[in-house]
Amino acid sequence: MRIDGMSYRSVWIDNDEPDIVKIIDQASLPFSFNICNLRSVEDVYDAIADMKVRGAPAIGVAGAFGMYLATLEITVRTNIREHLHNAARYLSSCRPTAINLSLAVTKVLNSIFSEDLSRKEDISRKALLVAQEISDNEINNCKEIGRYGLEIIRKISLQKNGGSVNILTHCNAGWLACVDLGTVTAPVYMARDKGIPVHVWVDETRPRNQGARLTCFELANEEIPHTLITDNAGGYLMQKGMVDIVLTGTDRITRSGDCANKTGTYLKALAASDNNIPFYVAAPSTSFDLNISNGIDSIPIEERDAEEVTEIEGIAGGRVIRVRICPENTKASNYGFDITPARLIKGLITEKGIINANESDIVNLFN
Ligand code: MRU
Repeated sequence: MRIDGMSYRSVWIDNDEPDIVKIIDQASLPFSFNICNLRSVEDVYDAIADMKVRGAPAIGVAGAFGMYLATLEITVRTNIREHLHNAARYLSSCRPTAINLSLAVTKVLNSIFSEDLSRKEDISRKALLVAQEISDNEINNCKEIGRYGLEIIRKISLQKNGGSVNILTHCNAGWLACVDLGTVTAPVYMARDKGIPVHVWVDETRPRNQGARLTCFELANEEIPHTLITDNAGGYLMQKGMVDIVLTGTDRITRSGDCANKTGTYLKALAASDNNIPFYVAAPSTSFDLNISNGIDSIPIEERDAEEVTEIEGIAGGRVIRVRICPENTKASNYGFDITPARLIKGLITEKGIINANESDIVNLFN
């Protein structure tokens, strides 16, 4: 995507600095636009843990590039197999909910050992090639998801005699989260490009406010009409007929179609179901986990620092500040994700087409 006339991915490697993974620092947006240089596996781990790079596809790509950095650390004394397996375990453990991270890391690891490579240069070249492929594929996935999602938006607009389509989204499944384009935003941008009027209701997405901070930043940059709402306002808007479709991303989809996404997504799905509003999840095949079925029992849900709940970050007088929003010593819990059961999901928009959120459609998709 373009920022101030410059084209960016949210994670990348510059040809002229091939030993550095670059990321757009999502933790400082929208207050400042910074690029971070990651030079080691630890740097990648910290950037993912601190959510400087976040969003399921983007952390997968960052993890894959992290494996490439691990290959650069090989010396003559390194036990290569042990070193790379340790790096893969370490990176995969960084955030547990998005399956994309461990899938991408494992893919790089396996690609190295599937060939009989022993020279450091060959191992690094292979790791970089596969990580780049993973990155390019995620962007391509978004393009295809955009094409399929566009048709849903077009249909709704036709039903409204060409009226504006009101899309409600939660968290950020835009280009920052997906390296480029975004799973939720690609259909929106394509609809805009086709002259279909769209408007996006953006949930603020407490506690870290990815909706307010990142989705609003992206939509403003693309001049897409949008309105920021509190996380709890969506139900009322749905009751008043002000939402035509709910469209979110996901961090993991089980074999039976249950979806983990940022906390609060489930409540939107419940409200959408009560109001007969279609709830769609836009996700690449790299977010599916066919090894598990029941999302509530099986998807690991990340618990983050309580301070993310007891404090809030914003800007005042040009300075970024954090303030406490509750009495001192208030106990807080911070479940990062929740599970939307398949029965509440109208469809999964993937790069291979739109499917039902059920086992037979999902297994079929991978055959
Ligand atoms: O904790 P985050 O900000 O990484 O959570 C991200 C989400 O919940 C996104 O919706 C998800 O990763 C999908 S991005 C296509």
